[in-house]
Formats: sequence, C-alpha cells, structure tokens
Amino acid sequence: MSAISPDTQKQPALTAPFEIGGVEISNRVLLAPLAGIGNWFVRLQARRYGAGLAVSEMVSSFGLHYGNEKTMNELMRIHPDEHPVSMQLFGQDPEAMESAARIAAASGADLIDINMGCPVPKVRKTGAGAELLADPELALDLALAARAGSGLPVTVKIRSGLMPGDRSGFDLSVRLVEEAGVAAIGFHPRVAKQGHKGQPDYAMARELTEAIDVPMIISGGLSTAETARIAYEESGADAVMIARGALGYPWVFAELTGQRVDPPDPAEVMDELLWVIDCAEDHMGTDRAGRYLRKFYPWYLDRVDVPKLVRSELCQTAGLDRSREIVREIRDGEPVAV
Ligand SMILES: Cc1cc2nc3c(=O)[nH]c(=O)nc-3n(C[C@H](O)[C@H](O)[C@H](O)COP(=O)(O)O)c2cc1C
Repeated sequence: MSAISPDTQKQPALTAPFEIGGVEISNRVLLAPLAGIGNWFVRLQARRYGAGLAVSEMVSSFGLHYGNEKTMNELMRIHPDEHPVSMQLFGQDPEAMESAARIAAASGADLIDINMGCPVPKVRKTGAGAELLADPELALDLALAARAGSGLPVTVKIRSGLMPGDRSGFDLSVRLVEEAGVAAIGFHPRVAKQGHKGQPDYAMARELTEAIDVPMIISGGLSTAETARIAYEESGADAVMIARGALGYPWVFAELTGQRVDPPDPAEVMDELLWVIDCAEDHMGTDRAGRYLRKFYPWYLDRVDVPKLVRSELCQTAGLDRSREIVREIRDGEPVAV
C-alpha cells in the first residue's frame, strides 16, 4: 500500500491487524491457496496456529455454477471457527464467475479470491489461471462479475508475468485495483513459465506495493519464518502468504505471530498428524481419506527422525487404523513393526 513509504515509515509488525475491503484481519500472516490441499481442516489448522486468514484451494467457478455435488459439498465446506475465510475461484467465464461468487458468499465466504496465477497447462488451456494475463479485459470483467455476484470484497492472486521479462501481471494488478475495485492483490513475483522455482522478484513486488492503494500480499519463496520475514521486508508488503512452508508445519504461523520460538518435538508433530487424520476421515470418509492422506504423511514425517522403512509403511498404507497405529508408535517412541 502506498501509504507505507519504505523510506519514511516503519513497516507494521506482522502481528498488526489490517483490513481487506473492510474485513478485519487480525494479523499479516496468511495461508496461501493450495490446490487439492487447502480444504476446511487445513485452513482451520492454519488459523489454530495463528494465521490471520486462510485462503481456500482453487475451486472451479463452473463446478459451482452447475451445482457439481463434490464442489458444492466438499470444496465449499467451511468450518464455523475458520472465519474470516477467503474462497478462491478460477474460471474464464464472467457469468459463471458471478454465480459461483454468489454461491461462495451464500456458503459463508468472507472474501472471494480469483486465481490469475495458475501455470498448469490444463487450467491455462481453458483461458483461466495465469492465461488471464494475456486477456486483461476479460480479467477485469471477471473481477467485476465476482464483486457483483458476491457483494463481498474481491481479491486476486496473480503472477508477475507469463514469460521471463514480461510484467503483464504487474500492469494487470494495477488495473484490477483501479478499474475493477479489487480489494487486495496476492502477488507471486515469479512468471508462469517458472512454475514454483527460482528466486521471486521482491523488488518488483515492492514497486507494486507503492503503486496500489490496497494491500499487497507477497507470495513466493516463503518457506520458513525467516524467509517470510525477509520477503515481507524486501517487498514492503502489507502481509505474507505461506504456501509450501505450511505443509506439515503449521507451527510457522505460531513462529511468525510471535506465539512460539522453539520447533515442535516429535510427539507434538505426531499428535497434530492424528488430528489431521481425524479431520480427513470426517471430511471424506474412511476409504477416501486413507488414500488422500498419503500425500500428507511425508510433510509431517520430514519433521521427525524415522527409519525409511517406517516412512514407506505409513506412506503406502491406505487403512486409517493402521496409519493411526504407526503414528502413535512414532509419537510414543515405540518400535514400529513393519
Ligand atoms: C501444491 C501447490 C498447490 C497450489 N495451488 C494453488 C492454488 O490453488 N491457487 C493459487 O493461487 N496458487 C496455488 N499455488 C501457489 C501458492 O499459493 C504459492 O503462490 C506458491 O507456492 C509460491 O509460494 P512458496 O514458494 O512459498 O511455496 C499452489 C502451489 C503449490 C505448491
């Protein structure tokens, strides 16, 4: 936000509250949208550990518009303790975006975010995600449609460009704020071609902070509390968004909001994983949760020292009873029979 001049004013602490379009956010540490991951319990977990706001995984605007059952029942599920929560939508059709945003608002969203950064070919081929950088007029229409449909503040998560040297995402961000009334920009200053690799351009993010009069939320390369603090300072951002750094490590939110200094011990990590297993079972039933959780286990096991055999036993098991047994044995320091 241009009100914070880096030369003359001190950047607020990450623990200071701020607002997005009138919605009060208790601190400046947010959970980034993560496709296939950021469901209600991952968001709730981030909030339990101190995140000021969690953004949902990207949800198809067409899925909502056409009343797809899984999209409506699973992806739109919001836990009462999550608020404020932002639901991220993707798509390239303003009419579908308008009705999807209306449904998201009726489901309890406090904010709507639009995905203009997804570099995955399957999404870009449809004209959605980062492809919108190539069609700024459509991008503006989508933001206006989401505002009209939801009546909520609308934010956009966006890349800096498509190819190296391209700043189309920067230019579009400014237009989204000025011409479509977007309430904040989540800026990932890597071009789409980079995917999730390479050093983000925090200097360009700082330029954006100074060019827009709504919050600029920095994303990219925030893998630990330390790198998040560096990104916050270098970009002059109003807030930070933690993405991969939060996988299996919600403690990063506690560290960044000053609630703890020491990393969790293995028992604490395993207790948290048991909480995740319970939530996943509640969310999608025992069988599907068993398969779904296989991608979660490595994130938590990376934080504890376990033999390779135990690791592969847990990651290959589909049965939740067996998973719980292994996790409890690791927690209690008992030998795991494999
Ligand atoms: C597995 C995965 C899923 C992601 N899904 C989304 C998504 O649905 N919407 C979005 O805007 N960004 C998504 N992103 C991008 C992240 O929000 C974030 O911008 C990116 O990971 C850079 O941050 P990091 O380097 O700190 O991880 C995803 C990233 C990863 C790794």
